[in-house]
Amino acid sequence: MLMKTRSLMVAAGAAMCFSGTAFAAGNPAAKAMMMSNDCFSCHAVNHQLVGPSFRAIAQRYHGRAASTATIATLAKKVISGGSGHWNAQTGGMAMTPHPQLSQAQAEGMVRWVLAQ
Ligand code: HEC
Repeated sequence: MLMKTRSLMVAAGAAMCFSGTAFAAGNPAAKAMMMSNDCFSCHAVNHQLVGPSFRAIAQRYHGRAASTATIATLAKKVISGGSGHWNAQTGGMAMTPHPQLSQAQAEGMVRWVLAQ
């Protein structure tokens, strides 16, 4: 019984820790929207999946210091799909289009990415 309680507490602690890091950087609403879309099936924050890591994208485009023009351009790529800019990392994979997103929604997601 004691063991069981302890392991439950450890699990709860780990879960809190996880959400703490997951929401530490960037707007949680934008992240939730990304999770209900397919962004995380091709991207991870820290490592390459099909697409480049969100941290690598943030580094390339100067993170939170990115201009509004850069954010608008990246959002358009999320909506229309993109290819050719990360071939060294992706081996030439393309990002699928996301026409269901508005420009404002996509910009919110890009700002979250750039905050990583
Ligand atoms: C089918 C896999 C896939 C999905 C789903 C996907 N991406 Fe991508 N993404 C990629 C690939 C591959 C690239 C690199 C494209 C290139 O080489 O220009 C990329 C690039 C990007 C870039 C950088 C674009 C650039 O030109 O530098 C951003 C920002 C991005 N993705 C955000 C998102 C967001 C937000 C979502 C969810 C709405 C998403 N991605 C969903 C595969 C995907």
